[in-house]
Amino acid sequence: MIEIENVSKSFGFRTLWSGLTLNIARGEMLALTGPSGSGKSTLLNCLGLLDKPSSGAIRYQGKDITKLGRNETRRFRRDELGYLFQSYALIDNATVSENLEIALKPRRAQGDTTIAEVLDRVGLSGREKEKIHYLSGGEQQRVALARLMLQQPSLVLADEPTGALDHDNTTMVVDILREMSKNGCTVVIATHDESVRDRCDAVFVVGGASGFMSVEPGSALSA
Ligand SMILES: Nc1ncnc2c1ncn2[C@@H]1O[C@H](COP(=O)(O)OP(=O)(O)O)[C@@H](O)[C@H]1O
Ligand SMILES: [Mg+2]
Repeated sequence: MIEIENVSKSFGFRTLWSGLTLNIARGEMLALTGPSGSGKSTLLNCLGLLDKPSSGAIRYQGKDITKLGRNETRRFRRDELGYLFQSYALIDNATVSENLEIALKPRRAQGDTTIAEVLDRVGLSGREKEKIHYLSGGEQQRVALARLMLQQPSLVLADEPTGALDHDNTTMVVDILREMSKNGCTVVIATHDESVRDRCDAVFVVGGASGFMSVEPGSALSA
């Protein structure tokens, strides 16, 4: 579904990586790992069209998305993509349901998944009217997950989504991402967390001394 082919990325004179090639199947849950500064976030940004590789192609369903025009880029980001961040990326001063309604609006008509259903799934039933800034970090990430479930994206890009969470909330994040991947959503997670990595279908090490490699989930890594 995603073919990253011979991609390189430089910032000024500094080359972050070159010759990066990686295929990701539809519905696969892939962990990106590697030392801090190796370019995990940059790779996610390239997949999400927030940044561009310096050379190479990223094909999504056969089409090179690095060459999309402005309208196609907007459509791709609106209709296909969902994001999950360490920092939750919610509107702090708005309520839980206001944050979720925003996610529903720009999308074409989806299934009939409702706000109440997704809040129930993330264990936040009845919390619609609460302001985001009164919620704990774990609860905020649950709202972000609920938003993702409402969006029903075909590709989820998650950047250290459990970096600030305790064990139970980490488990919930991974459970829901697993569930989405079972339903055909492709999930790419940049993560340092071994417990997250071990529940992915595949692990790809970005950069570092040894260059790129695919390793089995659960194998020992000294990243
Ligand atoms: N817009 C930018 N301009 C210049 N350098 C950048 C930019 N974005 C990232 N970098 C550099 O690229 C490297 C990789 O960053 P990043 O993708 O955030 O790594 P990771 O997520 O693996 O920690 C870092 O050295 C960072 O300073
Ligand atoms: Mg990063």
